[in-house]
Amino acid sequence: MPFDPNELRRVMGAFATGVTVITTRDQAGKPYGLTANAVTSLSLVPPLLVICVDRKAETFPHFFDSKIFVLNILAEDQAELSRRFATTGGDKFTGVRFRLGRLGTPILEGTLGHIECRIIETLEGGDHVIHVGEVEEAEARGGRPLVFFRGKYRQLTDEA
Ligand SMILES: Cc1cc2nc3c(=O)[nH]c(=O)nc-3n(C[C@H](O)[C@H](O)[C@H](O)COP(=O)(O)O)c2cc1C
Repeated sequence: MPFDPNELRRVMGAFATGVTVITTRDQAGKPYGLTANAVTSLSLVPPLLVICVDRKAETFPHFFDSKIFVLNILAEDQAELSRRFATTGGDKFTGVRFRLGRLGTPILEGTLGHIECRIIETLEGGDHVIHVGEVEEAEARGGRPLVFFRGKYRQLTDEA
């Protein structure tokens, strides 16, 4: 039986995730970012994270410029921010509150936390690449997460 790519979308859509905005910058310091949920922690010793970035994303080349990224974990009231960073084009940072991290990469305000990483390895992953980031700094803050499930933004109903 031929493989149906839509079925893969449907089944992975049932894998509920949090939502992040991954930010980076170019060598001149200009900020870039994209919404991502293909992210995971990889190792505690040493502390490593994995992010997967589409080769077609405008942000794609800038990870290679700086070799740095920040994973910003979105709160339940940040669906608009997620939509903004999931749309190619324009200046995504206009009107967005952020500060610069130790490595000069944007840390978004109002999130549940962030992790700043240096890219130590990049692997091929079909139409994406897989960046392995070594953690330089991590900060958790309180709040409730934005959730993505079956193609829609959701909120947790349980107490977080
Ligand atoms: C919930 C959600 C999760 C996403 N996860 C990823 C991801 O893990 N990696 C990726 O490259 N794109 C992901 N995308 C798509 C990008 O956010 C989208 O292609 C964006 O327009 C890229 O922006 P850019 O072209 O300005 O870099 C996701 C989109 C949404 C809405």
